[in-house]
Amino acid sequence: MEVPYLYISLFLLLASYLFTTHFLRKSANLPPTVFPVLPIIGHLYLLKPPLYRTLAKISAKYGPVLLLRFGFRRVLLISSPSAAEECFTTNDIIFANRPRLLFGKIIGNNYTTFGWASYGEHWRNLRRIASLEILSTRRINEFYDTRVDEGRLLIRKLMSNSSPTRVNLRSVFYELTLNMMMKMISGKRYFGGDIPALEEEGERFREMMDETFLLSGAANVGDYLPVCSWLGVKRLEKKLIVLQEKLDSFFQRLIEQLRTSKEEMKNTKKTMIEVLLSLQESDPEYYTDQMIRSFVQVLIFAGTDTSSGTMEWCLSLLLNHPQVLRKAQNEIDRKIGNDRLVEESDIVDLPYLRGILNETLRLYPTVPLLVPHESSRDCIIEGYNVPRGTMLLVNQWAIHHDPNLWTDPERFNPERFEGLEGTRDGFKLMPFGSGRRGCPGEGLAVRMIGLTLGLLIQCFDWERLSDNMIDMKEGLGVTMPKAEPLVAMCKPRLKMQDVVAQL
Ligand code: HEM
Repeated sequence: MEVPYLYISLFLLLASYLFTTHFLRKSANLPPTVFPVLPIIGHLYLLKPPLYRTLAKISAKYGPVLLLRFGFRRVLLISSPSAAEECFTTNDIIFANRPRLLFGKIIGNNYTTFGWASYGEHWRNLRRIASLEILSTRRINEFYDTRVDEGRLLIRKLMSNSSPTRVNLRSVFYELTLNMMMKMISGKRYFGGDIPALEEEGERFREMMDETFLLSGAANVGDYLPVCSWLGVKRLEKKLIVLQEKLDSFFQRLIEQLRTSKEEMKNTKKTMIEVLLSLQESDPEYYTDQMIRSFVQVLIFAGTDTSSGTMEWCLSLLLNHPQVLRKAQNEIDRKIGNDRLVEESDIVDLPYLRGILNETLRLYPTVPLLVPHESSRDCIIEGYNVPRGTMLLVNQWAIHHDPNLWTDPERFNPERFEGLEGTRDGFKLMPFGSGRRGCPGEGLAVRMIGLTLGLLIQCFDWERLSDNMIDMKEGLGVTMPKAEPLVAMCKPRLKMQDVVAQL
């Protein structure tokens, strides 16, 4: 065939493909899409990191309910509170599945772990264990001392320098959160105890966590274009398998240590692993070591970076808005005073501090697209038919930044949340997701973050290193990290020194 005919034939083929798909879509009453939908790759050509920003631009242009195609996967992209509400209320069970992505296969132990399992008896059981045994208010209260001790150790350490000192807050927040989480999970704390072997173990774990987030952020083309998995994307799979083996042996060691120390620990409070080990005694077939390892791995991974990242964004915002920081400090001085330290139970009486946390989570939600869901049946969203097997992405970042929903959305303005009790404002603000798959760790996260920020604001004056504003650029990664680690000047407040000296 001569070259011009070849081009004409290809053009006609493409045009008829585009027309047919367009009319089929119309007659099936599917949600609107973005033109063109290319053969094979669909809309993958549109996607540039960070995904939540790119998708927000697309939704602003084409509408809040869109049906896109990422390779062979249909994707329902939602960016309005009303559509999100329909997904997480009327259709909540239908959207309670997770899509089967490579990460969930390897790191999610063949889609069986809490975060990756699809809706069904197994997931319901995991959720029940989480809400009744592991993350219940009673259990979180039992670990109150653990969190207070960590908070106080940090304050004492920072107070030891009476003159202003530079502090790398990314490390501070990460180590504090990991210590809190690990102590509750296994009774161990890694950082700040001057025990080199533990610090090294903590560092090794930090490397594994960093690698996990790096690999989970790496777009796996094979999830959307299976042909790429056959042609060499196997490298990612191999890396994930090696990583998961390392994680398995790390968590198995923790389990063995707690098993052997069972007798000595008889009268002490049970850690989360110990609770699971006692369930293993009554039902060893379900509560296998594998199940326990996966369960605690999900808790650590879901709870650490999200909470410490939120603390970092929050203090960064406060340093760029010193008048807000002063107002928060005044609120604490007025309500708590300077004779005792802030406690978790004070957070409900500190509405301005809560407003700051909500405003941070609005501007920088650490899970900007929630975790992907998938529909198990056909359903209707905002009048459109959505076929079963569609992946759901709810772009809460777009909702949180929508000028039609928020006055001056880019402005840091905690006052906008005056009068709001919790961390949710209908479906306009839902940093912890909503419905059955909403975050089970919300209560714990709010306590850890509220306590830490309350103590840091009460005991210290914070300033930027120079007149330059803190760089608020977002880095790459699933938990929306700040691109530059936050470093700030910390100066102990004289009026708090006596209280801290008594700790
Ligand atoms: C600032 C801190 C946190 C934020 C912003 C956050 C946010 C979220 C979001 C948006 C989801 C996905 C909801 C969905 O699928 O629609 C989620 C899921 C989850 N979170 Fe959190 N989270 C935080 C802290 C924690 C903590 C401290 C824990 C546990 C110790 C935790 C455990 C989980 C688990 C296990 C899931 C998966 C639930 C499931 O798939 O059924 N999170 N979180």
